[in-house]
Amino acid sequence: MASSSLCCYILLILLVVLTGRCRAKDTVAPGRPLAANKTLVSGGDANFVLGFFTPPGANSTYVGVWYNKVSARTVVWVANREDPLPGDVADNPGATLSVSPTGTLAIAAGNSTIVWSVTPAAKLASPMARILDNGNLVLVDAGGAMAWQGFDYPTDTLLPEMKLGVDYVKGKDRTLTAWKSPSDPSPGPVVMAMDTSGDPQVFIWNGAEKVWRSGPWDGVQFTGVPDTATYTGFSFSFINNAEEVTYSFQVHNVSIISRLGLNSTGNYGLLQRSTWVEAAGTWNLYWYAPKDQCDAVSPCGANGVCDTNNLPVCSCLRGFTPKSPEAWALRDGREGCVRSTPLDCQNGTDGFVAVKHAKVPDTERSFVDMGLSLEQCRQACLRNCSCTAYASANVSGGGGRGHGFGTGCVMWTTGLTDLRVYPEFGQDLFVRLAAADLGLTSKSNKARIIIAIVVSISSVACLSALAGFLIWTRKKKRARKNGSSKWSGGSRSTGRCYEGNSHHDDELELPIFDLGTIAAATDGFSINNKLGEGGFGPVYKGKLEDGQEIAVKTLSKTSVQGLDEFKNEVMLIAKLQHRNLVRLLGCSISGQERILVYEYMANKSLDYFLFGMTISVFF
Ligand SMILES: *[C@@H]1O[C@H](CO)[C@@H](O)[C@H](O)[C@H]1NC(C)=O
Ligand SMILES: *[C@@H]1O[C@H](CO)[C@@H](O)[C@H](O)[C@H]1NC(C)=O
Ligand SMILES: *[C@@H]1O[C@H](CO)[C@@H](O)[C@H](O)[C@H]1NC(C)=O
Ligand SMILES: *[C@@H]1O[C@H](CO)[C@@H](O)[C@H](O)[C@H]1NC(C)=O
Ligand SMILES: *[C@@H]1O[C@H](CO)[C@@H](O)[C@H](O)[C@H]1NC(C)=O
Ligand SMILES: *[C@@H]1O[C@H](CO)[C@@H](O)[C@H](O)[C@H]1NC(C)=O
Ligand SMILES: *[C@@H]1O[C@H](CO)[C@@H](O)[C@H](O)[C@H]1NC(C)=O
Ligand SMILES: *[C@@H]1O[C@H](CO)[C@@H](O)[C@H](O)[C@H]1NC(C)=O
Repeated sequence: MASSSLCCYILLILLVVLTGRCRAKDTVAPGRPLAANKTLVSGGDANFVLGFFTPPGANSTYVGVWYNKVSARTVVWVANREDPLPGDVADNPGATLSVSPTGTLAIAAGNSTIVWSVTPAAKLASPMARILDNGNLVLVDAGGAMAWQGFDYPTDTLLPEMKLGVDYVKGKDRTLTAWKSPSDPSPGPVVMAMDTSGDPQVFIWNGAEKVWRSGPWDGVQFTGVPDTATYTGFSFSFINNAEEVTYSFQVHNVSIISRLGLNSTGNYGLLQRSTWVEAAGTWNLYWYAPKDQCDAVSPCGANGVCDTNNLPVCSCLRGFTPKSPEAWALRDGREGCVRSTPLDCQNGTDGFVAVKHAKVPDTERSFVDMGLSLEQCRQACLRNCSCTAYASANVSGGGGRGHGFGTGCVMWTTGLTDLRVYPEFGQDLFVRLAAADLGLTSKSNKARIIIAIVVSISSVACLSALAGFLIWTRKKKRARKNGSSKWSGGSRSTGRCYEGNSHHDDELELPIFDLGTIAAATDGFSINNKLGEGGFGPVYKGKLEDGQEIAVKTLSKTSVQGLDEFKNEVMLIAKLQHRNLVRLLGCSISGQERILVYEYMANKSLDYFLFGMTISVFF
């Protein structure tokens, strides 16, 4: 009696276990559809739910996927976004998601009318639809081979492991399309897609208008998402080969819920990366785009540079001037800039100027050769008369990103559009310029050679004098520490004219003039005191309170490379104090203003002050 009842119990338990296994909660199989009032939960960590839902404010029913562990229901994928069932979920008691014996996945209304379906290319044996723990709804056959997957048809959300971009083998282009509104999952005008032409980039479109450009992948990140370097806990994958051009991301800690979502309206940009904070019950915004004025597509036009730290944000690249000065004056930079001096490819006198911390220009029509080094890239660009700029195509592992090292070669043969610079991060872009625009304004080669010779001779003489000079300055410094400054022409202190970061900059201590002193000496930078306009800005004559005559060289704020020229000049002039050169008395920095103060020598020609002092370009 007892043994037979035990037998019964064992049979019962077996039955429960077996039926439990067959009727797994994450699958839909022929004859076992999903009812509108039921949901499936993914196996494994039970991260995702598949079911029927009605968005808040809507009166339509959809089948979608949402997070199981996010208390604020967040739908990440919708099957029938264009083919809803009329009425809310309660209005559709008989609706189903079903799989036919041959593998057609379908959503049917209560009266059995199919509103949405997908049919695999080939008929499947023992098909099954399953919601996976990464949020992917898949259609598999008896052997487990995947015949269809929701990840091939993203809606507005990129989940970890989901790929954005083109799969040439499957012939699929996976894009994100924002919902029309929070109550309408149907496709709105905002689309994010991979553009594979030239060096591949991701664009966000609003209708026919491009509203954001990621820039090309530089081996580590998209050049337009330079803060990727600061991300922790994420890794990124960019595949660019004959089979696919795709982007995807992974989150290292499986318990962190993170998504990249595309919105139709954006208080915080259209594209938002956010992570779920359960304690607060909200999504925390991690990153978003477009973010600022310079994130618009090409606000400064061809050959313009957008920099949010400047006002106005647009300036022309060195060697270029506004195409339409009138529009430029009204702070409309979209027409861009034109070259001041034509390139001289045949004579081979062109050179390059580096734009640092750049989001490189639009690569839609650029050329990539991963086999070239950066130096070979430079050579290739110089050889090809239509090349306007080049940059490294892979900065990973190449001596630190953002410094232009690396491998691979991107070459532009058009105007440089949608270029912006960042305060940090970013990449080096090398822009081709005619010799005349490289630093020396309107100097003939002959004059350059003469100056070069003078400088060379000076250097030799100076090197021998340098030892003595250094000893002299040390003594002077010591003396200055003891007594009061010998200067009396205005307020000055001794320090560094710029923020150097290498150790050998340290010895360059120069008197720093305050801006007021210089303004007083030059009658407030009066036009009457202006000696002329040099390559980097105007030069003024002035007189300090103690009667000393000075030449004041201001650095033009529009110069992209201003700070670097400034450093070069300070270093060289300070090291080469010699009678053949004008003596550098000091400098002044005040915000964006950078000023060099020289001893004025009446018998030096005007050219000397304007151009000759910028000897740094020869080294
Ligand atoms: C929602 O739609 C159903 C079916 O079309 C309709 O019967 C119902 O009245 C609608 N409800 C509202 C509030 O509009
Ligand atoms: C779900 O819907 C089916 C069919 O309409 C119904 O028989 C069943 O009672 C419902 N279940 C629940 C829990 O509401
Ligand atoms: C079945 O239901 C759908 C949606 O509720 C409706 O559009 C369609 O007209 C219905 N068909 C029939 C034959 O009643
Ligand atoms: C993963 O994240 C959770 C929640 O933030 C945290 O409690 C856990 O320690 C993390 N695990 C690891 C391995 O970092
Ligand atoms: C759209 O933006 C809103 C507000 O910032 C946010 O709550 C929502 O999650 C976003 N949608 C997506 C798909 O990222
Ligand atoms: C190239 O050199 C030739 C001969 O020196 C000169 O006549 C010509 O103007 C140069 N071309 C340019 C574009 O500078
Ligand atoms: C310059 O490069 C472009 C792109 O690689 C190429 O189409 C063009 O033929 C080249 N021109 C010359 C003169 O080599
Ligand atoms: C980029 O450079 C890294 C390190 O040098 C290398 O491992 C990687 O394969 C390169 N990527 C491509 C696409 O060449």
